Amino acid sequence: MAQKQAITAIYPGTFDPITNGHLDIVKRAAPLFDKVIITLALNIDKDPLFSIEERLEMLRRSTEDIEGVEVAQFSGLVVNFASSRGAKVIIRGLRAVSDFEYEFQIALMNRKQRPEIDTVYLMPDARYTYLSSSIIKEVARHGGEVRQLVPSFVMEMLMKKFPKSISE
Ligand code: COA
Repeated sequence: MAQKQAITAIYPGTFDPITNGHLDIVKRAAPLFDKVIITLALNIDKDPLFSIEERLEMLRRSTEDIEGVEVAQFSGLVVNFASSRGAKVIIRGLRAVSDFEYEFQIALMNRKQRPEIDTVYLMPDARYTYLSSSIIKEVARHGGEVRQLVPSFVMEMLMKKFPKSISE
């Protein structure tokens, strides 16, 4: 019988910043695959609050205790990066039905580019289904409470960006 190949999955995103919702997805994915590469997308049409280095540091620190997880960055098409790392799976989080239509389109376009790569969707814990990086930044900017929603050092980094807004 042929030996089963190790399966590598990539989890791409802008992670500006990483939230507990993203982390929840990583923790669910890690036991399912031999390796999970959390991949910072660099060429996204967004104007990030955190630099590439800051976001990579956040990704590394928040996943250092999760076995089988590594952090990388890419520009260009996500499927080309996946292919270059021998990844057969792209992981995406599905938070609500409203995510579905967009995700369906991207998944089929990615399959058109690289039919050998599949997209696997994971649902985050219900506590995080309303989260996005933008909503975290907006609430933090105006002094709101985001403590339970991001890792503590991300909270500290947000406080440095918006020093007068977030109270102890
Ligand atoms: N918990 C919390 N927030 C989540 C989440 C979760 N589980 N899943 C998604 N989100 C948030 C993200 O933080 C993001 O928030 P923001 O818009 O406020 O920044 C939002 O939901 C949208 O997420 P997503 O669609 O994953 O966008 P993204 O910017 O993080 O990543 C890429 C998009 C990088 C994966 C995608 O654009 C890509 O692959 N680009 C490369 C080019 C390419 O190959 N394109 C495909 C062509 S078909």
